[in-house]
Amino acid sequence: MNIEANKVAGALLSTLLVVMGLQMVSGIVFTPHKPAVPGYDLPSAEPAAGGAAPAAAVEDPPIVERLAKADVAKGEKATAACKACHTFDKGGANKVGPHLYGVYERNEGTVEGFAYSAALKGRTDKKWDADGLDHFLKNPKAYVPGTAMSFAGIGNAQTRADVVAYLNTLADSPKPLPKP
Ligand code: HEC
Repeated sequence: MNIEANKVAGALLSTLLVVMGLQMVSGIVFTPHKPAVPGYDLPSAEPAAGGAAPAAAVEDPPIVERLAKADVAKGEKATAACKACHTFDKGGANKVGPHLYGVYERNEGTVEGFAYSAALKGRTDKKWDADGLDHFLKNPKAYVPGTAMSFAGIGNAQTRADVVAYLNTLADSPKPLPKP
């Protein structure tokens, strides 16, 4: 054996030692730790199952109180978000959604010629009153599961009341809004 062969053999041997050493160390560090109950070992920062997020726990003031200080002009502004899908004028066409002229106190799902979802077709015995509109506009899919209205909702409770007050003006004779 010449000196070069010895060097190579030495290098191989030390590499082997390093690899074995690493295996031992990683074995110590990474030995899997089996949780007592599978799936329940992670410390969780999330609220307990079923617990509402803190923000949602704050109750909105009743719709009648919000309507009492509603601002129709602000409500009209907020409906810019609806105009991609709805018309608001008398005799307006149906678009992605039905026309909304006279929607206040109109029976749900009853605009002629509009293809409602089965969810709304099943609610034609109900009217769109202030409370229903408030809930629907807060979270359409939560209030009418299965609705075809793809709209996330208006988070601000006063803005929803403003919109309800504005929707009520879209009628030949607006209805009296409920009072506190
Ligand atoms: C992406 C389109 C889209 C947007 C944006 C949208 N809507 Fe709708 N809306 C729909 C559709 C589609 C329906 C019919 C739902 C169904 O059949 O389930 C509907 C239904 C409704 C209804 C029930 C009408 C009826 O005749 O029963 C109301 C009230 C309503 N929308 C109000 C609003 C308001 C107010 C806004 C804005 C804040 C809005 N929508 C934004 C698509 C939309």
